[in-house]
Amino acid sequence: MRLLMCPPLYYAIEYEINPWMSRSRQSDSRLADEQWRALYQLLQDRLGVDVALVEPRPGLPDLVFTANGGLVWENKFIVSNFRHEVRRGEAAHFENWFAARGYEIFHLPEQIFFEGEGDLLMCGDLFFAGYRIRSDIVSHQKVAEIIEREVLSLELINDWFYHLDTCFCPLGSNQAIYYPGAFDGGAMKVLEDHVGTLIPIGEEEALRFACNAIVAEKNIVMNGGCPKIRAQLESMGFSVFETPLSEFIKAGGSAKCLVLKIPHAE
Ligand code: ARG
Repeated sequence: MRLLMCPPLYYAIEYEINPWMSRSRQSDSRLADEQWRALYQLLQDRLGVDVALVEPRPGLPDLVFTANGGLVWENKFIVSNFRHEVRRGEAAHFENWFAARGYEIFHLPEQIFFEGEGDLLMCGDLFFAGYRIRSDIVSHQKVAEIIEREVLSLELINDWFYHLDTCFCPLGSNQAIYYPGAFDGGAMKVLEDHVGTLIPIGEEEALRFACNAIVAEKNIVMNGGCPKIRAQLESMGFSVFETPLSEFIKAGGSAKCLVLKIPHAE
């Protein structure tokens, strides 16, 4: 497995685009750097994940949340169209990174918002995509045409869980953890109809970003302080690695937001 990350050199809380962010609750840059490094080392050195890096840029504090840069599928890179102006400058950096490595680049029509893997996750052979708070539902159809796969749309209704990867975490084929309070009734039905084992997370651990976990085969990496889901995952045969990410949660992101999957990389 290959992941793309961005060191938090220019990371800070410079604007407020989700309920987690408050400029008066600044991140500690030394601690953010330490936490990011610990995540990087855990993935790269202990779990044997190949981590590639995109260069940090001044003026783009949320560039660390690489999951939002776009969607990688085979040799295709679909560039995000960020809903918020303050993040739009990030898109070109991801586009350049993938273009330089020979990926075919796809843009969605400008007026259609799409925030990459943050809102589009694969569970087994199925693609699930979140919409309303960040990505638009029409982006799902466009992405489906590009990747030539069906995409199942899930409406997100809770501003604290504004991207799909904050409330839904596939564990492999046909099983996932999720936070029911983030989805509307129709979305719940889609999940129940398509995912055999759906494990609900309580509000307390959902708010500690338990669903925003990185799954690397049987290893799961998540923010600290989620003992209930940890025990449940361990009883299912997963190894759970907790790593503190408090400084990134101040911007509304945790482990999974800090990585972009590059599937099929050799
Ligand atoms: N501050 C960023 C935003 O609100 C956090 C992004 C978190 N990323 C994610 N994949 N959930 O856009």
